Amino acid sequence: MTDKYAVIGNPIGHTKSPLIHLAFARQTGQDIDYTAIEGRIGGFRDDVDAFRQAGGRGINITAPLKLEAFKYATELSGPARLAGAVNALKFEGDRIHAQNFDGIGLVRDIVQNLGYPMAGRRVLLLGAGGAARGALLPFLEQKPARLLLVNRTVAKAQSLVGQFKPYAGGEFSCCSYPELGDIHEKFDIVVNATSASLRGELPPVHTGVFAFRCLAYELAYGKGLTPFLKLAQGVGAERLADGVGLLVEQAAEAFAWWRGVRPETAPMIKTLTVPFL
Ligand code: ATR
Repeated sequence: MTDKYAVIGNPIGHTKSPLIHLAFARQTGQDIDYTAIEGRIGGFRDDVDAFRQAGGRGINITAPLKLEAFKYATELSGPARLAGAVNALKFEGDRIHAQNFDGIGLVRDIVQNLGYPMAGRRVLLLGAGGAARGALLPFLEQKPARLLLVNRTVAKAQSLVGQFKPYAGGEFSCCSYPELGDIHEKFDIVVNATSASLRGELPPVHTGVFAFRCLAYELAYGKGLTPFLKLAQGVGAERLADGVGLLVEQAAEAFAWWRGVRPETAPMIKTLTVPFL
């Protein structure tokens, strides 16, 4: 019998998740159906209950419903609990298992696909919202020599540093954008986890942060050469990347969790990559 999966979000029109999961299913010989559900704001519980009653086995959750999924879960994984957000659920009878694969997907993309190890390197993470929060534990687990968190509202970054400090092996701290301008430090990996690019804005980061041969990573996917990537390109960053690899890697994690078989991600990343012009 075909097992049912879905992605839920609002809006959901542009989601690539059905394309990715159905390709994974073909590649691994798994018999699944995967659809997209436009979740009603305030109606998450009813929408997911209905999907389960119709035989749904698992669901991915995208913006803005990741916090709703967190509340809906009965069993939270460590990363989901620390991220305070959930992007995949698995249903087993009355039990609702929850995971957050965004951070691990991002690390896999940076370290394995793009070939930029984080261990012993200097990493700058811009933003302290949901996306940055989800990245913190997987980043710290890579043991960077230095992880600096920078946010417009510095109190949010301070609170995250306080919460995640026990997981840090190296130096882990935060500051404001003006302070970042004063410290004249360069970073091997600079990740833009703010939502600025969604509105075509540039977080107020200065050009001096990009080290020679650095990677500039934009979490947003499919926005082309964002102001952040343009800035990095202008100062000769070695590699520019957007969130396409993260999108595919987090999907592969969920697929493996649901089906017990890990798909190959490279072909799908290639299919979905839009070259920067
Ligand atoms: P997401 O789930 O995408 O992380 P979010 O939780 O709303 O979204 O967080 C958005 C993040 O982008 C925040 O860190 C926000 O900074 P503030 O905490 O100061 O609001 C950051 N952000 C959004 N627009 C920005 C801009 N133009 N410049 C710098 N940071 C910005």
